[in-house]
Amino acid sequence: MNAGILSMGKYVPEKVLTNLDLEGMVDTSDEWIRTRTGIEERRVAADDVNTSDMAYFASVEAIEKAQINAEDIDLILVATVTPDMPFPSVACLLQARLGAKNAAAMDISAACAGFIYGLVTAKQYIENKVYQTILIVGVEKLSKITNWQDRNTAVLFGDGAGAAIMGPVSDGKGILSFELGADGTKAKELYQEGPHIMMNGREVFKFAVRQMGESAVNVVEKAGLKKEDIHLLVPHQANIRIMEASRLRLELPEDKVMKTVHKYGNTSSSSIPLALADAIEEDKMKDGDIIVCVGFGGGLTWGAVAIRW
Ligand code: ACO
Repeated sequence: MNAGILSMGKYVPEKVLTNLDLEGMVDTSDEWIRTRTGIEERRVAADDVNTSDMAYFASVEAIEKAQINAEDIDLILVATVTPDMPFPSVACLLQARLGAKNAAAMDISAACAGFIYGLVTAKQYIENKVYQTILIVGVEKLSKITNWQDRNTAVLFGDGAGAAIMGPVSDGKGILSFELGADGTKAKELYQEGPHIMMNGREVFKFAVRQMGESAVNVVEKAGLKKEDIHLLVPHQANIRIMEASRLRLELPEDKVMKTVHKYGNTSSSSIPLALADAIEEDKMKDGDIIVCVGFGGGLTWGAVAIRW
């Protein structure tokens, strides 16, 4: 028995911020943003919509699609670096709002690798038969820690939430292998200081290109699979050029890479679950397909999973 994803839900704010809008805010251009990052627009949450609100909307959809009740949930894991407040956790706020009164609840802080950390944590509890039903949410309101005067970072980020219900699955499905990692010596390449995100873009870029390719290859090998067995690569959506480097490392055709960065920007912890939810909506994953998710982020952290869908 493996642990697997039973359903996904998502939420993105209605407000769209385009590259043209940003041209009016900082010294940048649509052309620069598109060619350097692949981003065309991103979503920005309204002032009165906080991280836990977006987590709630995505979770309600995942719960409905899994055809379970909130009381069935044993554990809630919320991956975020933009909680409503330092404590209580977003997971606790979400537990109350969902009425998931039987669930333990905690947040995971692993930046853009957070959702993968969540999946792997849930896998341990499920496969050790400690818990049966786990809600994992990746959610960010990055707009509240973005410096809208800094063109180096303002053009990159967006808000949103993706949620998964995990439980035991059979027939060789579920999470087949994983890799998690961290290098705290590189903490100052990407961090929050005061109210804002600080980033050494070039260093993060180099690290991401190397690590995404390597981790994706590692989980494929650990699962006893070959690169050509992959049906869909779902990478962290930070920058189209980083995603392209991972695709080439895995020798995959373009249509086997899930892309949402053009419409959501980099949504950190929510990027991979949002991409998974969209892949389901677009009918890109069939029963039994091999899916590889891989992410990297502030910490620095990284993580990958190979899943039989
Ligand atoms: N518009 C116009 N010019 C810009 C902009 C902008 N928005 N931003 C930077 N520039 C300028 C720079 O000032 C620089 O000018 P200079 O040469 O006169 O100094 C020039 O463009 C080139 O800058 P580079 O840093 O070399 O550009 P690069 O091609 O590396 O792209 C980018 C920058 C997009 C940030 C890239 O490095 C990148 O994607 N890095 C990874 C970022 C990332 O993935 N972060 C993850 C964060 S996830 C999390 O945990 C929250």
